[in-house]
Order: sequence, then structure tokens, then C-alpha cells
Amino acid sequence: MANIQSLRLGHAVLCARHFTGNDPFAVLLGDDVMVSERPALSQLMEVFEDKQREVIGVQQVDRLDVSKYGMIRPARIDGLVFEVTDLVEKPAIHDAPSDLAVMGRYLLTPILLGIERGAGNEIQLTDALKIIAHESPIYAKQLDGIRFDVGDKLGSFKATAAIGLIRHDMRPAMLAYMQSILMREAKQA
Ligand code: G1P
Repeated sequence: MANIQSLRLGHAVLCARHFTGNDPFAVLLGDDVMVSERPALSQLMEVFEDKQREVIGVQQVDRLDVSKYGMIRPARIDGLVFEVTDLVEKPAIHDAPSDLAVMGRYLLTPILLGIERGAGNEIQLTDALKIIAHESPIYAKQLDGIRFDVGDKLGSFKATAAIGLIRHDMRPAMLAYMQSILMREAKQA
């Protein structure tokens, strides 16, 4: 049986081609949780409506963390919207084309589904986007909001706490719980 995990994100998108057909479609990575006033996808849709071209959500990351992400090369900048001429998946620190990282939110078109499997039988979504960005620029929107990596244990705890504090129905109980923990910790210190 094929090792499905090794085929990566691009393969998952290809598997969905029969559902998406000729329509634009969104890809949302479940381990990237975005907390924002305006949903990240809605921020991307605004750019898509104007440009009618692939749009990806990005945020600035610390240079030391670039090897965890797909990184974009931004060209022309219009406020928080960038033309993207290149992408590199998980580059070494000195090879990163910028400090703008792909944040697991993509608005894509069927053109992307023509991209075939690459080296090592893997299909990286970033590599497929790189191919079409080399032909003509795609777009990135610097997302407004806080992103949590819930694939990471600490990131998961942080997201739970942050979302609990934002929700009006949860905030008082969350705050009381957090204060009780801090007081207990202070007594033990
Ligand atoms: C995936 C993508 C990467 C993106 C990241 C965001 O990587 O391949 O381009 O920056 O999600 O979380 P993964 O975290 O699955 O290794």
C-alpha cells in the first residue's frame, strides 16, 4: 500500500479535484488556527474578487523560524497585498526569500490541479504554487489576526486559552481559573 502520508499536502489537494471541479476552492490547514475579527478566508476572498488569481495567507515570522514554513518572495506591494513571484518550502535561514510565511490558508484555482507529482513521489503544494507563480505572479495577503500552531503542544494550549478569553461566555471563568493557577504557583515558588 502506498505511504499516503509521504505524498504531502499537494496530493491531498489533488485528491479533491473531483469535488472542486472547475471552481475556485479554499484550502485550510487544520493545525493552523487563526483568531481574527474578520475570518482569514474572507480576507483572502476580498483579494481574489479583485485579482481572480491564487491568493495565499501569509504572516511575518522570526527569521529563526523560516525553516518551519513555506516562504514567499514578495514583489510589488499594495498595502497588505503582495504579488508573489516565488515560494520556497522550509528554506534554510539564508535561503529564505523574505520573512513572510504561508499560514495554512489558500484560495486556489483549478490551474493548480494540473501540477503532477514531483521528486520523491511527493507533491508539495508550495512547489505547485511556485510553478504557476513563475509563469505569472500570484498574490499573498498579510493576514490580520493571531495564528496558533495547534500541531505543537504549547501552541495548542495557547490557542485554547486565547479563544477562551475572547469568548464572552467563557472569559470570566477562564480568567478566574488562570488567576487561581497563578496564585497557586506563586505560593509554591
Ligand atoms: C505546511 C505547508 C507550509 C506552511 C505550513 C503552515 O507545512 O507545507 O508551506 O507554511 O503548513 O503551517 P507543515 O506544517 O504541514 O509541515
